[in-house]
Amino acid sequence: MNDLAGKHIVLGMTGGIACYKAADLCRALVKAGATVQVVMTEAATQFITPVTMQALSNRPVYTSQWDQREANSMAHINLSRQAHAILIAPCSADFMAKLLHGRADDLLSLMCLARPMESVPLLLAPAMNREMWAHPATQRNVEQLRADGCTVLDVGSGEQACGETGDGRMLESHELLEDLIAFFQPKRLRGQHVLVTAGPTYEAIDPVRGITNLSSGKMGFAVARAAHEAGAQVTLVAGPVALATPRGVRRVDVKSAQEMLQASVESAPSASIFIAAAAVADWRPQQSAAQKIKKDGSGQPPELGFVENPDILATLAQSPRAASGALYCVGFAAESHDLLEHATAKRIKKRVPLLVGNIGPATFGQDDNALLLVDAAGAQELARNTKIALARQLIAEIATRVTIHTAPAP
Ligand code: CTP
Repeated sequence: MNDLAGKHIVLGMTGGIACYKAADLCRALVKAGATVQVVMTEAATQFITPVTMQALSNRPVYTSQWDQREANSMAHINLSRQAHAILIAPCSADFMAKLLHGRADDLLSLMCLARPMESVPLLLAPAMNREMWAHPATQRNVEQLRADGCTVLDVGSGEQACGETGDGRMLESHELLEDLIAFFQPKRLRGQHVLVTAGPTYEAIDPVRGITNLSSGKMGFAVARAAHEAGAQVTLVAGPVALATPRGVRRVDVKSAQEMLQASVESAPSASIFIAAAAVADWRPQQSAAQKIKKDGSGQPPELGFVENPDILATLAQSPRAASGALYCVGFAAESHDLLEHATAKRIKKRVPLLVGNIGPATFGQDDNALLLVDAAGAQELARNTKIALARQLIAEIATRVTIHTAPAP
C-alpha cells in the first residue's frame, strides 16, 4: 500500500535502545511510498550507525549542523522546509526536555525549533524506562509539548530492554506507521462516535459445532480503521475473526448474533453513526445442546430446529435516536447477483439512509472489493480498490451525508 506516497518525512533519532526499531520503521516508511531523510543525534549514533540508516533510507544521513554538504551551511533550515512531517522516533526523555525549553545545541533540536510550525507538524514517539516515563517531570513535559502543538504518540507497555516491565517503551514500527498514516488523513468525523459491526457471527449447535459464514471481517475492520483515522471515536463489535484491532479502536468481541445485538445496543446511545458491516447469521439453532451431539447409529441426522436472529441494523435504524437524526445508520448488502436492485430494496426494507452493496462471493476473504452506494438520490459506484482505500472513500461519503443529515433546517 502506498499510503505515504508523495510524503517527505524527516525521521529524527535520539539516543535509546529503541533505535533498532527505527531502522525497521524507516524501511516501512519507504515501503509505504514516503521519502525519508534521517537526522540523528550524536547519542543515537551510539546505538545504530548512520551507515545502516543511509542504506535503509537511500539518502545520506545528517548528524551535524556543521555539515559541509549544504551549500548555505544551513542544514537545519533546508531539512525542515522540505518535510511534510518530522517524526522523532525514538524520542528520549532528555530530547523532550530539550524541545520543551527551545534549546538548539545540535542539528536535530535546532531543526525542530526552526521548523515552520504551521506547515511542518512534529510527532514524537517517546521511548524510555518506565520510571523515566512516569516521572512527573516527563509527564509535565508531555503535557506542555502537546500544548505547544506537538503530537506526542502513545508509548507501548510490557517488557523493557532494562529488564523492567511497564509503560514507556517505543511503539512497534507497524504501530508508528499506522499512526503516521492516520495523522495525514483528513479529520472529517472529528467529534463523532462511530459504531461498527464486523465479521461473521457463530451460532452454536453444540459445544464443538456451529453455523457461520465466510465473512473475513476485513471490510468492517477497514471501515473502523478509516473512521478512527478520520478523527472519530470508534467502537468495533467484532464477530469471531483473527484480525488485529485497528489502532485507537475500542473492540468488543462477540460470537452470536444475540451477543452482537446486545453489544451494539449497549454502545448505541452514545454513537452518532452506526455502520453494520457484519454478516450476521439470519438463523440460529433453536437449542444449543449442552453436550456434543453424538451419532446414535441409526444413520438419521439429528433434527435441528431454527429460529430467526434479531436484525441488529433494523433494531437500531428504527430506534428513536435514528428517527430523530441523532444516529445515522448505514447498512451493507452482500449479494450474489442483481446488486442494484437488491441493494435498493434492502435500503427501503431496513429503513436506512445509506446502503452499501457488494458482491459477496467476490469479496469474502479478499483484500480488495468494489462497492455500490445506494441512497435516496440514487446509486454511486466505488471502483475496485483495496478495502482500506474503499473504506476511506466510504467514510468521506458518510461524512458529507452526516453533515447534511444533522444540519439544522434553514
Ligand atoms: N444485518 C443485521 N442483523 C441481521 C441481519 C443483517 O444487522 N440479523 C445487517 C447486516 O450487517 C447488513 C444488512 O443488515 O448491514 C444486510 O444484511 P443481509 O444479511 O445482506 O440482508 P438480509 O436482511 O438478511 O436479507 P437477505 O438475507 O434476504 O439477503
